[in-house]
Amino acid sequence: MPISIKTPAEIEKMRCASRLAAEVLQMIGEHVRPGVSTATLDQLCHRHIVEVQQAVPAPLHYRGYPKSICTSVNHVVCHGIPDDRCLQDGDILNIDITVIRDGYHGDTSKMFTVGHPPARALRLLEISYECLCRGIAQVAPGADLGEIGRAIEACAHQQRCTVVEEYCGHGIGRGFHEDPMVLHYWEGPQGIHLQEGMTFTIEPMINVGKRHVRLLNDGWTVVTRDRSLSAQWEHTVLVTASGCEVLSRRPEETLPCT
Ligand code: MF3
Ligand code: CO
Ligand code: CO
Repeated sequence: MPISIKTPAEIEKMRCASRLAAEVLQMIGEHVRPGVSTATLDQLCHRHIVEVQQAVPAPLHYRGYPKSICTSVNHVVCHGIPDDRCLQDGDILNIDITVIRDGYHGDTSKMFTVGHPPARALRLLEISYECLCRGIAQVAPGADLGEIGRAIEACAHQQRCTVVEEYCGHGIGRGFHEDPMVLHYWEGPQGIHLQEGMTFTIEPMINVGKRHVRLLNDGWTVVTRDRSLSAQWEHTVLVTASGCEVLSRRPEETLPCT
């Protein structure tokens, strides 16, 4: 499929869906603490999306996915399925929220800390967020799509961290996962030049150890092969005339672009 260019009316709907997804991350923060199960976090987010936001949690039943959010704890890289296990002091976790509102998707995730994680975990959180920011800073009309991954990989390697290659960012709109694929590593120029009106996600997964991953038998949960810690942050972005707009930006974030 060709990369869709969103009309001003579609962009308004993307803004709305992305803002709602960001608001879920803000809402859930106070519930992330030792002793809370990820299933409880899922239930709270589900209710908020459906009852308060009058939106749809996109992951639920997506290709058979059983829950409304993804919760990826410690060495889980992405697509962790909420369950009855409780968070423990020192855990780090990613919560990934995608909502559909008015037919359009907004997709964003952030890392949370549980109690007091060790210094190496906190350092990973900072590095992985910096990787996302460096990727976002490349977004401007005319830029080659590959520059995003180049910037992310350089940032990770500079800090002796690695980049997961099996999963990538994606175009987003009416579809959850549209073209193009947004690589988080450098594979040379992609020959795709960013245009005003494109919307896609950037969502690097950064590991403390080796980059290699393994899929668990549940068919969803992705873990690091060496069980090293992994962290991920995700935003939905819009290419604008002057650069980019981070559609899922939270109020506390100061990002390279608006
Ligand atoms: N939100 C994830 C992404 O960033 C996709 C999750 S698919 C699911 O693309 F089925 F696991 F929810
Ligand atoms: Co995504
Ligand atoms: Co996501």
